[in-house]
Amino acid sequence: MIKMIPLPYTLKALEPYYSKETLDLHYNILYKGYVEKTNNVLRKLEEARRANDYSNIKCLEKELAFQGSGAILHKLFFENMSPPNNQNSLQFKIMQKISEDFGSINNFKRQFSEAAAVVEASGWCILAWVPEFEQLVILQCEKHQDLTLWGCVPLLVFDMWEHSYYLQYQTRRPEYISAFWNIINWKEVNRRFLEICN
Ligand SMILES: [Fe+2]
Repeated sequence: MIKMIPLPYTLKALEPYYSKETLDLHYNILYKGYVEKTNNVLRKLEEARRANDYSNIKCLEKELAFQGSGAILHKLFFENMSPPNNQNSLQFKIMQKISEDFGSINNFKRQFSEAAAVVEASGWCILAWVPEFEQLVILQCEKHQDLTLWGCVPLLVFDMWEHSYYLQYQTRRPEYISAFWNIINWKEVNRRFLEICN
């Protein structure tokens, strides 16, 4: 089960840039809803496992992705704001990396603002680190459930696109799934797991 993070500042601390009323609604109603609904679906998944009944699995996984991503992204959003201050951001290591990857801090701000302006409703604009690229990128996220749970770290990845099995298994996807269990490199999955956990 997950918990709401406590708001790291008071409701009116972000004024005048973000009003008390807006923050109250956003944190106490919307974010709270995502956290409660994530816990709900986690409970339902536990029930499904206990009953060995996966008839509703597609719906439950979608709900987990939507509510869980909402909970994660809102947590990060509230945490990555702070009351207006004169903080010298240039002292932070990430600013160097932003300059390297985007050319300059101003380039980054420009690209981020332009990308944010054209995100369609219900979306997010995100500065993200891609460990596999060792690079920062800006992403527009218009349906946050489409990336399953934002911030999760993939450990065991199974390609379900037809190109990955059609030549051998044609439409027999279950055979491909059964076969996969014989060829998993658990040593590598474990290495990634330990790398993240430690
Ligand atoms: Fe929101």
